[in-house]
Amino acid sequence: MLKDQTAIITGGSRGIGAAIARALAARGANVAILYAGNAQAAEAVSIQCADLGVTARAYRCNVADYSQTRETVAQIKKDFGTAHILINNAGITRDGLAAMMKEADFDDVVDTNLKGAFNMIRHCAGLFLRNRGGCIINISSVSGLMGNAGQCNYSASKAGLIGLTKSVAKELAPKGIRCNAIAPGFIQTDMTDSQAENPLLSMIPLGRMGKPEDVAEAALYLISANYITGEVLRVDGGIAM
Ligand code: NAI
Repeated sequence: MLKDQTAIITGGSRGIGAAIARALAARGANVAILYAGNAQAAEAVSIQCADLGVTARAYRCNVADYSQTRETVAQIKKDFGTAHILINNAGITRDGLAAMMKEADFDDVVDTNLKGAFNMIRHCAGLFLRNRGGCIINISSVSGLMGNAGQCNYSASKAGLIGLTKSVAKELAPKGIRCNAIAPGFIQTDMTDSQAENPLLSMIPLGRMGKPEDVAEAALYLISANYITGEVLRVDGGIAM
């Protein structure tokens, strides 16, 4: 049970982030849901969580913006008192071949996926240090483990998240704070809507795309696994074996 714990979930308005928010709320955690633009979707997830008997609030916050993340974490501290769990899930794709990619498409992806996670860790670390404990989970990708043609920006950001995870795990382990990563494969969400014809899908050993709930289950496991830090857990039906 996660009663009396507060979890911050970035990109919690849909897809994997929404599934993680609901799973944590179902275990009794209060949830702070950060979203980029769709207030209605974020409010809907927040209401679903509150219906499970916890405190839930949605905050509009661009994770790529350092000062916005600082202000949002300060507001969460005011609203919830503190936080115990941080799920860095917000992410975007801007696919294209490296030889033709626009500079802005590289920068936007790295700023959101990688720097966004740093920004959140930077501002939540003080809360965790004061609590002498905490759990950080960064949502990486099998693209970060294997590379993927057409995704040099995304793969670089997701591989970067793994380095970030391991360094933060080493820095904060002596303070009782754990930091792990999850590397999902193909998960059915808005992000993968356009992938229905991707030939890689037929190569998934378990024979199906993942569901957001499959990733949420892994997040719950890592939250409960007190002796695991600096780990990268694949949730990919075996595709990156
Ligand atoms: P999605 O596109 O359905 O949801 C992404 C969420 O991130 C949305 O809530 C959106 O509002 C939020 N977001 C985007 N930019 C943001 C910003 N600048 N600030 C705050 N929030 C922002 O994506 P999905 O599929 O649920 O993915 C969630 C995470 O899982 C992402 O990091 C993605 O890279 C990763 N992932 C997804 C896979 C998949 O197959 N769907 C596979 C591997 C990793």
